[in-house]
Amino acid sequence: MKIAILGGTGSIGEGLAMRWSQKHDIIIGSRKCEKAEDSANKYCTILEECDLTGNISGCINADAVKQADVVVLSIRYEHAISTIESVKPYLKDGHILISIVVPMTRDGYFKYTPPMEGSAAMEFKKVLPEGVKLVSAFHNVSAKKLSDIEEKLKMDVFICGDDEEANQIVSDLVWDIPDLRPLIAGPLEVSSMVESLTPLLVNLAMYNKKKHLGIQCV
Ligand SMILES: NC(=O)c1ccc[n+]([C@@H]2O[C@H](COP(=O)([O-])OP(=O)(O)OC[C@H]3O[C@@H](n4cnc5c(N)ncnc54)[C@H](OP(=O)(O)O)[C@@H]3O)[C@@H](O)[C@H]2O)c1
Repeated sequence: MKIAILGGTGSIGEGLAMRWSQKHDIIIGSRKCEKAEDSANKYCTILEECDLTGNISGCINADAVKQADVVVLSIRYEHAISTIESVKPYLKDGHILISIVVPMTRDGYFKYTPPMEGSAAMEFKKVLPEGVKLVSAFHNVSAKKLSDIEEKLKMDVFICGDDEEANQIVSDLVWDIPDLRPLIAGPLEVSSMVESLTPLLVNLAMYNKKKHLGIQCV
């Protein structure tokens, strides 16, 4: 499968790219082609240092979308809508778009600050072309843990979406990362609950002197 990671030059893009590249073709998207290429090369070098190889390339976000079956929106909430708008002409019927976006702010502690639609995912749904299948996932997985390629993750990934087939494809993509387990959380409307767990995890880490917490349902 060809997976475009928009903003794949950033913190969580790195881990997703390196881990998925073991089974899929990864296209790092950026606003700048050179930055995307540099990141792709960097990720390949890290993999080589761990005796692994991966197929990772880089280009501007729009070109990444043109090549992809699945598109990951790996952009901070503040810039997510403008990024969607910039690639919208290239999003086609049947494209799966995974939102990992968490709207949160810090005012002493971290707060979930959703838009009036209730969640980032519900806001994005309003602006996406109708045929694009939006799935919400990976909000509660730490970028640091993902990018440490030798780290065993042992976490659950909650998936929300309105299209059963797309949810299944995203579930399979979660299974493709060793030790992550996908759990369907419900329709896209449930995304507010899942997104809001991320500031909770960060607060738990901050107040209890822990690092990079995740969730495992037992
Ligand atoms: N970090 C985590 O642990 C984590 C965990 C779960 C979910 N998330 C979510 O994942 C998303 C990405 O998080 P991150 O920590 O990877 O973010 P990040 O590193 O701060 O940024 C990701 C990328 O966004 C692009 N970007 C920056 N400013 C932009 C702008 N003005 N317009 C368009 N693109 C811009 C940059 O790519 P270019 O400069 O190459 O264009 C950057 O590399 C967020 O929504 C976050 O809530 C993060």
